Amino acid sequence: MTKKRTRTESFEVLLEIVDENFIRPPRDSQRNSILNRALREFEYDLEALNRLAGRFVCGKPRKFFSEDRTQVVLADVDIMEDWQLPVMNQMVKAVTENPGDILEIGFGHGISSRMIQKRNVRSHIIVECNDSVVERFNRWRAECKDKRIELVHGLWQETVGSLGLFDGILFHTYPLNEEEYIKYVHQGITFAEHFFATAAQHLKKGGIFTYFSNEIDSLSREHQRSLFRHFSHISTSIINLEIPESVEDSWWADSMVIVKAYK
Ligand SMILES: C[S@@+](CC[C@H](N)C(=O)[O-])C[C@H]1O[C@@H](n2cnc3c(N)ncnc32)[C@H](O)[C@@H]1O
Repeated sequence: MTKKRTRTESFEVLLEIVDENFIRPPRDSQRNSILNRALREFEYDLEALNRLAGRFVCGKPRKFFSEDRTQVVLADVDIMEDWQLPVMNQMVKAVTENPGDILEIGFGHGISSRMIQKRNVRSHIIVECNDSVVERFNRWRAECKDKRIELVHGLWQETVGSLGLFDGILFHTYPLNEEEYIKYVHQGITFAEHFFATAAQHLKKGGIFTYFSNEIDSLSREHQRSLFRHFSHISTSIINLEIPESVEDSWWADSMVIVKAYK
């Protein structure tokens, strides 16, 4: 058995590798070096999380999704809270870096859609599954008749396949039921990960994908590796947020990483 240990004043981590063929490069020294690095990174990550946790607000306990939310008429605050506006603004700037053909998944209040329109894009397709939100879209659409805006009514999972290629894709949806929450939020690295492959398939070369990252101050290695499976390079920046003490959403930190993933 291989044992590695790291200890600080606050915690101790003991790594016991029971399979001697696990992480087995040609030389023992190489194995030693990468295991030491992994442990050091874990220690560093815990120290960073300790500092970040001190900046969290309390928020509210999460609501259990007892019903499917595809068609539920949600209160405005359940669709999106005001503290997210700067995030939308930065995501829109990211996705319209090449203001050509834009695909947006999830209309919600239409805040990001309005921002996208202000960036003079060539065309704008929005996929939205909720009938009441589609009515909201139709009211907005009537105000901007001369624009190339099209709504695809349905789940992205059932509609996006026929939509072709885009210069930019913005993904901002939420779990539609408890199963999606457990699988993609609780057990996943970021909710949007289940859309990464689809986004890459529908981007032109050099096109940009952005999404609500749910990362506070950096992207985890797991998150980066998942992006690099589908995209050629990524760029990240951090946005500071005024997060209310009584935030409804499952987000408590006062910053978020904005991601641009390039095809
Ligand atoms: C958080 S809101 C989007 C907010 C929007 N960015 C804004 O600025 O107002 C998410 C939207 O995604 C829609 N949605 C959720 N899951 C979806 C899915 N699988 N396919 C299509 N739309 C979905 C919801 O109905 C909701 O309108």
